Amino acid sequence: MSSAGAGMPSMIDFDRISRDRLPALLRSAPKAELHIHIEGSLEPELIFQLAQRNGVALAYPSVEALRAAYAFTDLQSFLDIYYAGASVLLKEADFFDMAWAYFQRAAADNVVHAELFFDPQTHTARGVDIGTVIRGLHHACQRAHAELGISAALILCFLRHLSEDEALATLDAALPYRHHFIGVGLDSSERGHPPEKFARVFAKARALGLHLVAHAGEEGPPAYIESALDVLQVERIDHGVRCLEDPALVRRLAAARMPLTVCPLSNVKLCVFQDLSQHNLPALLDAGLCAMVNSDDPAYFGGYLNQNLVETFAALPQLGARQAYQLLRNGFEASFVAADKREAWYRMLDAAFAGAVTAG
Ligand code: ADE
Ligand code: ZN
Repeated sequence: MSSAGAGMPSMIDFDRISRDRLPALLRSAPKAELHIHIEGSLEPELIFQLAQRNGVALAYPSVEALRAAYAFTDLQSFLDIYYAGASVLLKEADFFDMAWAYFQRAAADNVVHAELFFDPQTHTARGVDIGTVIRGLHHACQRAHAELGISAALILCFLRHLSEDEALATLDAALPYRHHFIGVGLDSSERGHPPEKFARVFAKARALGLHLVAHAGEEGPPAYIESALDVLQVERIDHGVRCLEDPALVRRLAAARMPLTVCPLSNVKLCVFQDLSQHNLPALLDAGLCAMVNSDDPAYFGGYLNQNLVETFAALPQLGARQAYQLLRNGFEASFVAADKREAWYRMLDAAFAGAVTAG
Protein backbone atom coordinates (compact mmCIF):
# COMPACT_ATOMS: atom_id res chain seq x y z
CA MET A 1 0.00 0.00 0.00
CA SER A 2 1.32 3.44 -0.87
CA SER A 3 1.27 6.56 1.27
CA ALA A 4 -2.16 7.26 -0.29
CA GLY A 5 -3.25 5.01 2.58
CA ALA A 6 -6.36 3.10 3.55
CA GLY A 7 -9.69 4.86 3.74
CA MET A 8 -8.55 8.17 2.25
CA PRO A 9 -11.62 10.08 1.03
CA SER A 10 -11.33 10.99 -2.65
CA MET A 11 -13.42 14.16 -2.26
CA ILE A 12 -10.93 15.96 -0.01
CA ASP A 13 -8.16 17.72 -1.91
CA PHE A 14 -5.38 17.40 0.66
CA ASP A 15 -2.96 19.31 -1.56
CA ARG A 16 -5.10 22.41 -0.98
CA ILE A 17 -4.62 22.34 2.80
CA SER A 18 -1.55 24.49 3.40
CA ARG A 19 1.08 23.49 5.93
CA ASP A 20 0.55 26.64 7.98
CA ARG A 21 -3.07 25.58 8.61
CA LEU A 22 -2.00 22.20 9.95
CA PRO A 23 -1.41 23.05 13.63
CA ALA A 24 -4.92 24.53 13.99
CA LEU A 25 -6.44 21.65 12.05
CA LEU A 26 -4.61 19.05 14.14
CA ARG A 27 -5.80 20.77 17.31
CA SER A 28 -9.45 21.14 16.31
CA ALA A 29 -10.01 17.79 14.58
CA PRO A 30 -11.78 15.00 16.50
CA LYS A 31 -9.36 12.41 17.84
CA ALA A 32 -9.09 9.02 19.51
CA GLU A 33 -6.41 8.32 22.10
CA LEU A 34 -5.52 4.64 22.45
CA HIS A 35 -2.22 4.69 24.33
CA ILE A 36 -2.38 6.68 27.53
CA HIS A 37 -1.30 5.24 30.90
CA ILE A 38 -3.58 7.03 33.28
CA GLU A 39 -0.89 6.96 36.00
CA GLY A 40 1.31 8.77 33.45
CA SER A 41 -1.14 11.68 33.39
CA LEU A 42 -0.47 12.44 37.06
CA GLU A 43 0.95 15.98 36.98
CA PRO A 44 3.48 16.97 39.69
CA GLU A 45 0.99 19.46 41.15
CA LEU A 46 -1.58 16.69 41.66
CA ILE A 47 1.11 14.34 43.04
CA PHE A 48 1.88 16.90 45.74
CA GLN A 49 -1.81 17.59 46.42
CA LEU A 50 -2.57 13.88 46.84
CA ALA A 51 0.58 13.31 48.92
CA GLN A 52 -0.61 15.99 51.34
CA ARG A 53 -4.20 14.69 51.36
CA ASN A 54 -3.03 11.13 52.10
CA GLY A 55 -0.03 11.87 54.31
CA VAL A 56 2.42 10.24 51.89
CA ALA A 57 6.07 11.35 52.05
CA LEU A 58 7.73 12.18 48.73
CA ALA A 59 11.42 11.99 47.89
CA TYR A 60 11.32 15.50 46.37
CA PRO A 61 10.85 18.76 48.31
CA SER A 62 8.80 20.62 45.68
CA VAL A 63 6.89 20.41 42.40
CA GLU A 64 9.85 22.07 40.67
CA ALA A 65 12.35 19.58 42.12
CA LEU A 66 10.18 16.67 41.01
CA ARG A 67 9.76 18.06 37.51
CA ALA A 68 13.51 18.67 37.30
CA ALA A 69 14.03 14.93 37.90
CA TYR A 70 12.19 14.11 34.66
CA ALA A 71 15.39 13.62 32.66
CA PHE A 72 15.28 10.03 31.48
CA THR A 73 17.93 7.96 29.79
CA ASP A 74 15.77 4.93 28.93
CA LEU A 75 12.47 3.24 29.79
CA GLN A 76 13.65 1.93 33.17
CA SER A 77 14.87 5.33 34.36
CA PHE A 78 11.37 6.66 33.66
CA LEU A 79 9.53 3.72 35.22
CA ASP A 80 11.40 4.14 38.51
CA ILE A 81 10.10 7.69 38.93
CA TYR A 82 6.67 6.88 37.47
CA TYR A 83 6.02 4.15 40.05
CA ALA A 84 7.20 6.50 42.82
CA GLY A 85 4.74 9.17 41.60
CA ALA A 86 1.88 6.66 41.69
CA SER A 87 2.54 5.98 45.39
CA VAL A 88 0.26 8.90 46.36
CA LEU A 89 -2.81 7.09 44.96
CA LEU A 90 -4.63 5.36 47.79
CA LYS A 91 -8.37 6.07 47.73
CA GLU A 92 -11.13 5.81 45.16
CA ALA A 93 -11.31 9.62 45.00
CA ASP A 94 -7.59 9.78 44.12
CA PHE A 95 -8.09 7.54 41.07
CA PHE A 96 -11.15 9.53 40.11
CA ASP A 97 -9.35 12.88 40.45
CA MET A 98 -6.39 11.67 38.36
CA ALA A 99 -8.59 10.40 35.52
CA TRP A 100 -10.93 13.39 35.64
CA ALA A 101 -7.95 15.75 35.28
CA TYR A 102 -6.89 13.76 32.21
CA PHE A 103 -10.36 13.86 30.67
CA GLN A 104 -10.56 17.63 31.05
CA ARG A 105 -7.26 17.99 29.20
CA ALA A 106 -8.37 15.45 26.59
CA ALA A 107 -11.59 17.39 25.99
CA ALA A 108 -9.55 20.56 25.44
CA ASP A 109 -7.60 18.59 22.79
CA ASN A 110 -10.85 17.48 21.09
CA VAL A 111 -10.37 13.85 22.04
CA VAL A 112 -13.76 12.19 21.51
CA HIS A 113 -12.71 8.66 22.43
CA ALA A 114 -10.08 7.43 24.90
CA GLU A 115 -9.00 3.93 25.91
CA LEU A 116 -7.07 4.28 29.16
CA PHE A 117 -4.40 1.88 30.39
CA PHE A 118 -4.16 1.34 34.12
CA ASP A 119 -1.64 -0.68 36.16
CA PRO A 120 -3.49 -2.33 39.08
CA GLN A 121 -0.40 -4.16 40.34
CA THR A 122 1.34 -0.82 41.02
CA HIS A 123 -1.43 -0.14 43.54
CA THR A 124 -2.31 -3.56 44.92
CA ALA A 125 1.39 -3.99 45.84
CA ARG A 126 0.87 -1.04 48.25
CA GLY A 127 -2.23 -2.62 49.79
CA VAL A 128 -4.80 -0.75 47.68
CA ASP A 129 -7.79 -2.93 46.79
CA ILE A 130 -8.22 -3.44 43.05
CA GLY A 131 -11.89 -2.46 43.39
CA THR A 132 -10.82 0.95 44.74
CA VAL A 133 -8.71 1.48 41.61
CA ILE A 134 -11.32 0.33 39.11
CA ARG A 135 -14.30 2.05 40.72
CA GLY A 136 -12.50 5.42 40.87
CA LEU A 137 -11.41 5.20 37.23
CA HIS A 138 -14.80 3.94 36.09
CA HIS A 139 -16.63 6.85 37.73
CA ALA A 140 -14.34 9.28 35.93
CA CYS A 141 -15.11 7.50 32.62
CA GLN A 142 -18.83 7.82 33.30
CA ARG A 143 -18.52 11.52 34.13
CA ALA A 144 -16.34 12.12 31.05
CA HIS A 145 -19.11 10.69 28.91
CA ALA A 146 -21.90 12.55 30.66
CA GLU A 147 -20.25 15.96 30.96
CA LEU A 148 -17.59 16.10 28.25
CA GLY A 149 -19.10 13.84 25.60
CA ILE A 150 -15.96 11.66 25.60
CA SER A 151 -16.49 7.96 25.12
CA ALA A 152 -14.03 6.25 27.45
CA ALA A 153 -12.98 2.71 28.29
CA LEU A 154 -10.40 1.01 30.51
CA ILE A 155 -7.68 -1.52 29.61
CA LEU A 156 -6.06 -3.39 32.50
CA CYS A 157 -2.30 -3.79 32.03
CA PHE A 158 -0.08 -6.45 33.52
CA LEU A 159 3.39 -5.41 34.65
CA ARG A 160 5.77 -7.53 32.62
CA HIS A 161 8.66 -7.30 35.14
CA LEU A 162 6.47 -9.36 37.51
CA SER A 163 5.61 -13.04 37.09
CA GLU A 164 2.82 -14.51 35.00
CA ASP A 165 1.33 -16.03 38.16
CA GLU A 166 0.99 -12.52 39.58
CA ALA A 167 -0.68 -11.40 36.34
CA LEU A 168 -3.11 -14.35 36.60
CA ALA A 169 -3.92 -13.45 40.19
CA THR A 170 -4.52 -9.83 39.11
CA LEU A 171 -6.91 -10.91 36.37
CA ASP A 172 -8.79 -13.12 38.83
CA ALA A 173 -9.03 -10.26 41.34
CA ALA A 174 -10.40 -7.97 38.61
CA LEU A 175 -13.12 -10.36 37.48
CA PRO A 176 -15.83 -8.92 39.76
CA TYR A 177 -15.29 -5.70 37.74
CA ARG A 178 -15.17 -7.44 34.36
CA HIS A 179 -17.90 -5.14 32.99
CA HIS A 180 -15.75 -2.07 33.79
CA PHE A 181 -12.82 -2.87 31.48
CA ILE A 182 -12.70 -3.85 27.81
CA GLY A 183 -9.30 -5.45 27.50
CA VAL A 184 -5.89 -6.30 28.88
CA GLY A 185 -2.44 -5.01 27.98
CA LEU A 186 1.19 -5.57 28.84
CA ASP A 187 3.53 -2.78 29.95
CA SER A 188 6.56 -1.90 32.12
CA SER A 189 10.18 -3.01 31.51
CA GLU A 190 10.28 -4.57 28.05
CA ARG A 191 13.81 -5.88 27.66
CA GLY A 192 14.20 -9.38 29.07
CA HIS A 193 10.44 -9.82 29.48
CA PRO A 194 9.17 -11.14 26.13
CA PRO A 195 5.44 -11.38 25.43
CA GLU A 196 5.49 -15.20 25.52
CA LYS A 197 6.11 -15.00 29.28
CA PHE A 198 2.39 -14.07 29.49
CA ALA A 199 0.91 -16.69 27.14
CA ARG A 200 -1.44 -18.26 29.70
CA VAL A 201 -2.87 -15.06 31.12
CA PHE A 202 -3.55 -13.67 27.66
CA ALA A 203 -5.23 -16.97 26.66
CA LYS A 204 -7.43 -16.66 29.72
CA ALA A 205 -8.28 -13.03 28.92
CA ARG A 206 -9.09 -14.04 25.34
CA ALA A 207 -11.44 -16.76 26.61
CA LEU A 208 -13.17 -14.09 28.70
CA GLY A 209 -13.85 -12.07 25.56
CA LEU A 210 -11.44 -9.27 26.47
CA HIS A 211 -9.56 -7.24 23.87
CA LEU A 212 -5.81 -7.85 23.82
CA VAL A 213 -2.96 -5.37 23.32
CA ALA A 214 0.72 -5.36 24.32
CA HIS A 215 3.68 -3.01 24.35
CA ALA A 216 6.26 -4.45 21.96
CA GLY A 217 9.09 -3.04 19.87
CA GLU A 218 9.50 0.12 21.97
CA GLU A 219 12.92 -0.84 23.34
CA GLY A 220 12.57 -4.55 22.65
CA PRO A 221 13.43 -6.22 19.33
CA PRO A 222 11.05 -6.90 16.40
CA ALA A 223 10.87 -10.54 17.61
CA TYR A 224 8.80 -9.28 20.56
CA ILE A 225 6.27 -7.82 18.12
CA GLU A 226 6.08 -11.19 16.39
CA SER A 227 5.53 -13.10 19.61
CA ALA A 228 2.89 -10.59 20.74
CA LEU A 229 1.06 -11.43 17.51
CA ASP A 230 1.72 -15.17 17.40
CA VAL A 231 1.61 -16.14 21.06
CA LEU A 232 -0.56 -13.48 22.71
CA GLN A 233 -2.72 -12.88 19.60
CA VAL A 234 -2.98 -9.17 20.30
CA GLU A 235 -5.20 -6.85 18.27
CA ARG A 236 -2.90 -3.82 18.56
CA ILE A 237 0.80 -3.30 19.18
CA ASP A 238 1.69 -0.47 21.55
CA HIS A 239 4.67 1.47 20.14
CA GLY A 240 6.01 -1.09 17.66
CA VAL A 241 8.41 1.44 16.13
CA ARG A 242 11.26 -1.09 15.92
CA CYS A 243 9.26 -3.14 13.39
CA LEU A 244 11.06 -1.27 10.60
CA GLU A 245 14.18 -3.33 11.36
CA ASP A 246 12.38 -6.38 9.90
CA PRO A 247 10.90 -5.83 6.40
CA ALA A 248 8.97 -9.13 6.45
CA LEU A 249 7.35 -8.11 9.71
CA VAL A 250 6.42 -4.72 8.25
CA ARG A 251 4.72 -6.45 5.32
CA ARG A 252 2.82 -8.68 7.72
CA LEU A 253 1.69 -5.77 9.91
CA ALA A 254 0.60 -3.74 6.89
CA ALA A 255 -1.31 -6.64 5.30
CA ALA A 256 -3.15 -7.29 8.57
CA ARG A 257 -3.69 -3.56 9.21
CA MET A 258 -2.34 -4.24 12.67
CA PRO A 259 -2.48 -0.93 14.54
CA LEU A 260 0.68 0.56 16.05
CA THR A 261 -0.05 3.06 18.82
CA VAL A 262 2.97 5.32 18.34
CA CYS A 263 4.00 7.89 20.98
CA PRO A 264 6.51 10.39 19.52
CA LEU A 265 7.28 12.61 22.54
CA SER A 266 7.64 9.50 24.70
CA ASN A 267 10.09 7.98 22.21
CA VAL A 268 12.28 11.08 22.36
CA LYS A 269 12.12 11.43 26.16
CA LEU A 270 13.08 7.75 26.57
CA CYS A 271 15.85 8.04 23.98
CA VAL A 272 14.33 5.61 21.45
CA PHE A 273 14.95 8.42 18.91
CA GLN A 274 17.44 11.24 19.35
CA ASP A 275 14.88 13.91 18.49
CA LEU A 276 11.52 14.28 16.76
CA SER A 277 13.13 14.98 13.39
CA GLN A 278 14.64 11.46 13.56
CA HIS A 279 11.33 9.75 14.33
CA ASN A 280 10.29 7.01 11.91
CA LEU A 281 6.58 7.94 11.82
CA PRO A 282 6.74 9.08 8.16
CA ALA A 283 8.37 5.77 7.21
CA LEU A 284 5.73 3.80 9.14
CA LEU A 285 2.98 5.57 7.18
CA ASP A 286 4.84 5.17 3.88
CA ALA A 287 4.98 1.42 4.58
CA GLY A 288 1.17 1.43 4.76
CA LEU A 289 1.05 0.72 8.48
CA CYS A 290 -1.97 1.60 10.61
CA ALA A 291 -0.02 3.96 12.90
CA MET A 292 -1.47 6.77 14.95
CA VAL A 293 -0.17 9.30 17.48
CA ASN A 294 -0.72 9.00 21.25
CA SER A 295 0.68 10.62 24.39
CA ASP A 296 1.73 7.56 26.50
CA ASP A 297 2.60 9.35 29.79
CA PRO A 298 1.87 13.00 29.03
CA ALA A 299 2.67 14.41 32.48
CA TYR A 300 6.20 13.02 32.16
CA PHE A 301 6.96 13.41 28.46
CA GLY A 302 6.14 17.03 27.73
CA GLY A 303 2.61 17.05 26.42
CA TYR A 304 -0.82 15.68 25.73
CA LEU A 305 -2.17 14.49 22.42
CA ASN A 306 -2.32 17.82 20.57
CA GLN A 307 1.19 18.68 21.71
CA ASN A 308 2.43 15.35 20.35
CA LEU A 309 0.74 15.96 17.02
CA VAL A 310 1.75 19.59 16.57
CA GLU A 311 5.38 19.10 17.61
CA THR A 312 5.74 15.97 15.48
CA PHE A 313 4.38 17.69 12.38
CA ALA A 314 6.57 20.74 13.01
CA ALA A 315 9.67 18.53 13.20
CA LEU A 316 8.93 16.34 10.17
CA PRO A 317 8.36 18.22 6.90
CA GLN A 318 7.39 14.94 5.18
CA LEU A 319 4.15 15.02 7.17
CA GLY A 320 1.36 17.05 5.57
CA ALA A 321 -2.44 17.17 5.56
CA ARG A 322 -2.77 13.73 3.97
CA GLN A 323 -0.71 12.13 6.73
CA ALA A 324 -2.57 14.11 9.39
CA TYR A 325 -5.86 12.75 8.12
CA GLN A 326 -4.48 9.22 7.86
CA LEU A 327 -3.11 9.24 11.43
CA LEU A 328 -6.36 10.52 12.92
CA ARG A 329 -8.44 8.11 10.86
CA ASN A 330 -6.20 5.23 11.94
CA GLY A 331 -6.90 6.14 15.56
CA PHE A 332 -10.62 5.65 15.00
CA GLU A 333 -10.08 2.56 12.85
CA ALA A 334 -8.02 0.92 15.63
CA SER A 335 -10.39 1.78 18.47
CA PHE A 336 -12.44 -0.94 20.15
CA VAL A 337 -15.88 0.47 19.34
CA ALA A 338 -18.94 -0.53 17.35
CA ALA A 339 -18.82 0.19 13.60
CA ASP A 340 -21.59 2.81 13.64
CA LYS A 341 -19.74 4.90 16.22
CA ARG A 342 -16.55 4.67 14.16
CA GLU A 343 -18.35 5.67 10.97
CA ALA A 344 -19.78 8.75 12.70
CA TRP A 345 -16.26 9.79 13.76
CA TYR A 346 -14.96 9.30 10.19
CA ARG A 347 -17.67 11.70 9.02
CA MET A 348 -16.67 14.26 11.68
CA LEU A 349 -13.05 13.91 10.60
CA ASP A 350 -13.94 14.34 6.93
CA ALA A 351 -15.89 17.49 7.77
CA ALA A 352 -12.97 18.95 9.73
CA PHE A 353 -10.53 18.38 6.85
CA ALA A 354 -12.98 19.44 4.13
CA GLY A 355 -13.44 22.70 6.06
CA ALA A 356 -9.70 23.38 5.95
CA VAL A 357 -9.39 23.13 2.15
CA THR A 358 -8.75 26.55 0.67
CA ALA A 359 -11.06 27.71 -2.12
CA GLY A 360 -9.81 28.42 -5.65
N1 ADE B 1 4.30 2.17 31.48
C1 ADE B 1 4.03 3.47 31.35
N2 ADE B 1 4.58 3.95 30.24
C2 ADE B 1 5.21 2.93 29.62
C3 ADE B 1 5.95 2.78 28.43
N3 ADE B 1 6.18 3.80 27.60
N4 ADE B 1 6.47 1.57 28.15
C4 ADE B 1 6.26 0.55 28.97
N5 ADE B 1 5.58 0.63 30.10
C5 ADE B 1 5.04 1.80 30.43
ZN1 ZN C 1 2.95 2.98 26.99
